[in-house]
Amino acid sequence: MNLFSGKVAAITGGNNGIGLAAAKLLRQQGANVAICGQNKARLAQAESELGVMACQTDVSDTQQLAAFYAATAERFGAIDVLLVNAGVFESRPLAEVDEAFFDWQFRVNTKGAYFSVQQALPYLRDGSAIVLTSSMVHSAGWPGCSVYAASKAAVRSLARSFAAELAVRNIRVNSLSPGVTQTAMLEWPAMTPEQRSAGHEALRARIPLGRFAAPEQIAQAMLYLASPDGYMTGGDLLVDGGITTL
Ligand SMILES: NC(=O)c1ccc[n+]([C@@H]2O[C@H](COP(=O)([O-])OP(=O)(O)OC[C@H]3O[C@@H](n4cnc5c(N)ncnc54)[C@H](OP(=O)(O)O)[C@@H]3O)[C@@H](O)[C@H]2O)c1
Repeated sequence: MNLFSGKVAAITGGNNGIGLAAAKLLRQQGANVAICGQNKARLAQAESELGVMACQTDVSDTQQLAAFYAATAERFGAIDVLLVNAGVFESRPLAEVDEAFFDWQFRVNTKGAYFSVQQALPYLRDGSAIVLTSSMVHSAGWPGCSVYAASKAAVRSLARSFAAELAVRNIRVNSLSPGVTQTAMLEWPAMTPEQRSAGHEALRARIPLGRFAAPEQIAQAMLYLASPDGYMTGGDLLVDGGITTL
């Protein structure tokens, strides 16, 4: 039996990478899925290939988020699964970070996650599940990642506070902390191809399992956290090939 049959899932950042992989899995398991993102072409492609509802939405704009959830509820009814997954990453050393760079990552990763949950509240069914995508770097120091890691540590914290507030509605809230995952986030456009492959090699060498995660492997963990019969809340699921712990 499909666990998500007839359920309604909303996914921010559902038009690429991990979010898109989660949309595919949820569709395969019988869910009605609404995704948002900014890139129109990828939204349209997901809509036609997966049969999802797709809305162009900037998660750092609260009114656009409200419109996304209202459209989702109008089409499918109340939301059972909310994957707060949209995020941005760029590495920059402390000395080179300026205010615009800092604000950009916090605006999308942290403020975006906060209001992605707040704006969904009127449409979430009691007993639903929320998964916030944090990162393995939320709990460790990585050179060049100070802003991103702090923005994702805040997301980990939000999952605890939201879980405490929403338990009264039997809404479970957890964070998921992926390790290095093969998505557009590893493209590092500012680098030459040689720099990029040297960087990837150095990263791979630090991972006990010796390979990056596939987006589908992270999406599977999301579905575990979102499953209707789950008991975990306020927790964090670390899926990083052992890099943080071993
Ligand atoms: N890949 C990794 O190694 C890794 C590791 C740990 C955590 N993560 C986290 O995993 C999540 C998914 O990332 P990914 O690896 O799948 O990268 P990705 O393929 O680049 O996906 C990022 C998603 O976020 C969306 N997005 C970005 N800014 C947005 C905005 N302002 N409004 C709405 N949507 C926005 C993108 O859509 P548009 O491009 O259309 O805006 C895209 O769908 C992120 O939160 C990321 O921080 C990734």
